[in-house]
Amino acid sequence: LLQPVILSGGSGSRLWPLSREAYPKQFLPLTSEHTMLQETVRRIDGLAAEHPRLAMEARAPIVVCNQSHRFLVAEQFRLMERALAAIVLEPIGRNTAPALTLAALTATADAADPVLLVMPADHVIANDQGFRAAVADGLQLADDGAVVTFGIVPSKPETGYGYLRQGAGLEQPALNGRTFRLEAFVEKPDLDQAQAYLASGQYLWNSGLFMLKASVWIALIERFRPDIATAAAAALSGQRNAENFIHVSAEAFAACPSDSIDYAVMEPLSASQTADDPPLLLLPLDVGWSDVGAWSALWEVRERDEQGNVLDGDAFAHNSRNNLLLAQHRMLAAVGVEDLIVVETADAVLVAHKNHAQDVKAVTQFLSKSK
Ligand code: GDD
Ligand code: MG
Repeated sequence: LLQPVILSGGSGSRLWPLSREAYPKQFLPLTSEHTMLQETVRRIDGLAAEHPRLAMEARAPIVVCNQSHRFLVAEQFRLMERALAAIVLEPIGRNTAPALTLAALTATADAADPVLLVMPADHVIANDQGFRAAVADGLQLADDGAVVTFGIVPSKPETGYGYLRQGAGLEQPALNGRTFRLEAFVEKPDLDQAQAYLASGQYLWNSGLFMLKASVWIALIERFRPDIATAAAAALSGQRNAENFIHVSAEAFAACPSDSIDYAVMEPLSASQTADDPPLLLLPLDVGWSDVGAWSALWEVRERDEQGNVLDGDAFAHNSRNNLLLAQHRMLAAVGVEDLIVVETADAVLVAHKNHAQDVKAVTQFLSKSK
């Protein structure tokens, strides 16, 4: 039994002014005619048909999001004509470890113990079929009790990612791809460490996708962060309305510590692996992955013209190279410029250098301070 869990609580602040607090990037059609959330849901279509040996039953997804986005999520599923198992409504963001705990408790409420496929709502994968082949492998491994991570070959010493040290390969001839032991999980190393990891060739980036049984996650969070386990369980009242909204108590959830899956569980588990622990495994994922963290990443994944420009809406470029020009309401013309990001919306315009795309979150920080 497979239970997709979609984490949709991010704010996408580096994609301002398209991504807003009230309308973050996962609800925008940034990379195709579908929104990133819809792409995430559709990505596992065809899993059963392509991997009949699995004889697998997949449930409709559980989405965990901020309560203010509940109608956006419901509407996006309605437009796709897709079913939802539940929308878990977080009164405030407490990062991914509490979010996954809410989802795991929701998934096991009926006494089933499905394999959770934990997916961020805002990532791009070019080769969905390759992704499904890895998920098919992950399902079998997680069903046997493993914690399965998915690694991306790193291309730069990015300090915003987790790093997975690849251990010995396992003999698993029945699987689609290769399986490795995960020797170490290091979340967001400093630059020196990241450079050493990159040079060593032994590390992959953590994609942020995980597969493990719901009961395995609950046991791990109870062991490493009993404070989070207790607070999340207390916040779930069991109230569910006709639209499958799952209510989370604001008061109880406010008392829940904030931490990520990576820091709360993956790092300490990888540091103290014993024979009694669930096996920590690593499946390499070579499928054109991007977390579209900033405008520069969107420029990389989108189709470009011969001059390297991404033009969207009523945008025009002359003698200009390698720009991202996105016009929503007015004509946008660029002449003789390079490596610029220009995003025009009804009430705000961003002009940024592509090398400073990470700094765009300074704008949203400024805006929330001046509010
Ligand atoms: N429901 C919910 N609630 N979702 C959340 C919350 C929350 O409080 N916080 C974050 N999310 C969602 C985001 O929408 C995103 O899809 C995903 O969880 C990951 O959160 P990020 O905040 O983007 O994490 P990160 O980028 O710092 O790091 C993670 O992702 C990297 C890859 O993109 C880690 O898993 C890293 O190890 C990994 O390399
Ligand atoms: Mg991220």
